Amino acid sequence: MKTPSRFTLDDRLPADHFTTTLRSDVLTGLGATPRTLPPKWLYDERGSDLFEQITLLPEYYPTRSEQEILAERSQEIAELTRAVTLVELGSGSSRKTRLLLDALVAGGTLRRYEALDVSATALEEACMAIDRDYEGIQVTGTVADLETDMVLPVGAGPRLVAFLGSTIGNFDRDQRASFCRALAAVLSPDDVLLLGADLVKDPGTLVRAYDDSAGVTAEFNRNVLRVLNRELGADFEADAFEHLALWNEAEERVEMHLQSRRAQTAKVPALGLSLDFTRGESIRTELSCKFRRETLTAELYDAGLTVRRCWTDSGSRFALLLAAPTAPFGGRRV
Ligand code: SAH
Ligand code: AVI
Repeated sequence: MKTPSRFTLDDRLPADHFTTTLRSDVLTGLGATPRTLPPKWLYDERGSDLFEQITLLPEYYPTRSEQEILAERSQEIAELTRAVTLVELGSGSSRKTRLLLDALVAGGTLRRYEALDVSATALEEACMAIDRDYEGIQVTGTVADLETDMVLPVGAGPRLVAFLGSTIGNFDRDQRASFCRALAAVLSPDDVLLLGADLVKDPGTLVRAYDDSAGVTAEFNRNVLRVLNRELGADFEADAFEHLALWNEAEERVEMHLQSRRAQTAKVPALGLSLDFTRGESIRTELSCKFRRETLTAELYDAGLTVRRCWTDSGSRFALLLAAPTAPFGGRRV
């Protein structure tokens, strides 16, 4: 039997991640009009658990849709890429990843799985489970903030770099462009990107996916205030903020907000901040951009990535794109 906990866990987060970075994000975001917070702070241990619960909700179709595509296409992806290393960005629980791992193992090419996530607890749990269940695969987890530190662990090529779940949609257009350019810059000509992207669809379906009847997404959203309370000694009363999910038609994105139920003041002693909220004033806590195939293909091309394949689920809700670094003479054809 394989010895448990043979996987390695690297921590690339700067020592001051929860102090300096969070402080500067809170100062910049909550001091601005409208007030915002970057979504990465939603994912402490509780936030990651809540996200996993979200993926099982009847209203939250993206996980099931992407899983359907992966179930149908993983063998083809394994044959096209013949990946020796599977790198996963924002891996979370790595649950859907098992479909890729199974296909790459069956194809006889895979040697390493490299997971990267900003959430240390989710990463450790996922890597431990993958390490336990996949004999002969070297498993490494890296705790990293991919927005500021785009570094791919070294692993033998060809590498398949998966960025699933439409987490790319949690970046705005400029952040996406920087992220994709940074990613293209660290890919070798042999590497391939597998990108999950949620598609534009009717607003009712979209809003329901972010405002479920069980209230799990509302708790996930409010969790960011609990993170600020714990890490910065803030005194946000989480229940005094209402969860809102709005479809922004012009930007084609769902926005999560926390709307103050009444006039109130929140203090953030670590920053010497006293924040006055009027009744109805909100903090935007997440963007979830929805995509059209042509515009996403063009965005990737601008960043140096050429889309080679695009698959959708049977309901045309979600897309999985395979893209290779654009090279002067055509690059990898996959
Ligand atoms: N890929 C999984 C999880 C998606 S949830 C799926 O498809 O179900 C989004 C994941 O991205 C979370 O695990 C979160 O911790 C991670 N994440 C968010 N912002 C990040 C960042 N800046 N750097 C690294 N990981 C990030
Ligand atoms: C991780 N990310 C792509 C999810 C999304 O759909 O934007 C996070 C999420 N937010 C609310 N529900 C799920």
